[in-house]
Amino acid sequence: MKHFLTLQDIDQQQAAYLLQRCAQLKTKVKQGEVHHSLAGKMLALIFDKASTRTRVSFETGMFQLGGSTMFLDAQATQIGRGEPIEDSSRVISSMVDVIAIRTHEHSIIQRFADYSKVPVINALTELAHPCQILADVFTYVEHRGDIHSKTVCWVGDGNNMLHSWINAAALFGYRMQIACPENYMPDADVVAQAKLLGADIEITTDPLEAATGADLVSTDVWASMGHEQEQAQRVAAFANYQVNTAVMQQADHAAIFMHCLPAHRGEEVSAAVIDGQQSVVWDEAENRLHVQKALLEYLLIGEQA
Ligand code: CP
Ligand code: NVA
Repeated sequence: MKHFLTLQDIDQQQAAYLLQRCAQLKTKVKQGEVHHSLAGKMLALIFDKASTRTRVSFETGMFQLGGSTMFLDAQATQIGRGEPIEDSSRVISSMVDVIAIRTHEHSIIQRFADYSKVPVINALTELAHPCQILADVFTYVEHRGDIHSKTVCWVGDGNNMLHSWINAAALFGYRMQIACPENYMPDADVVAQAKLLGADIEITTDPLEAATGADLVSTDVWASMGHEQEQAQRVAAFANYQVNTAVMQQADHAAIFMHCLPAHRGEEVSAAVIDGQQSVVWDEAENRLHVQKALLEYLLIGEQA
């Protein structure tokens, strides 16, 4: 693996390695063990959108691994003034060791990666949010064990988060039950590619049907970054797509609730669910740190004993 732009960039063996390395790195940091496997390495974060968790996890992770991070607000660089992505990639990648990018169209990160001399990580595009799904799967495994053959339910927008859940379905062997409003379905190519790889995916417009028997229920904001101006029309379209107690009652009694955050209580999730017993959202957020570290290590120095 050179770049990590979607979950299609890793295979089952690599995915399994990353999960177990994540657990090791989490244990090390909890025990106060100093682990500077990336001493002398520089990570550049090029962000064109807001971030809390992704930025903090990458910066803290790199610090804990002995490396350094440079945060670049894309608009404050020459990229924001129109310097070509390809030129920016050649220049930045000649000076740093790894680059994580948060941007709009997925084609931007692909073009950047094509010209980069160093690994490029997708820190969120309109198409995918693969780092988050690695953290989510790790969080499921921590709470409930192997996710293979389990059922993941998604209620809400057919967005970047859902695409990454779909991309990883065959990789981790979980089934997906998805409910989206008619006009907010996931990208048909993403679904078709996952099915070609053997993913078991059911798509409906009924949240209660999608939640039936699920082991994990997840959702996300109705209007992602870049779609804020559609908020009013989305509130109307998604009115019946809140993960609330009625939805959770359809799921398995041991089901857990996840949300990548930030969340809007009273919109895509009720306060009773996100702040309730089945919610693991705070562990999920913390695990972004441990996953980011495993990924950075893997891309820069490969598998560690
Ligand atoms: N979940 C997530 O990516 O959060 P941020 O937008 O705060 O980075
Ligand atoms: N779907 C959301 C995820 C934020 C972490 C967005 O793209 O804004």
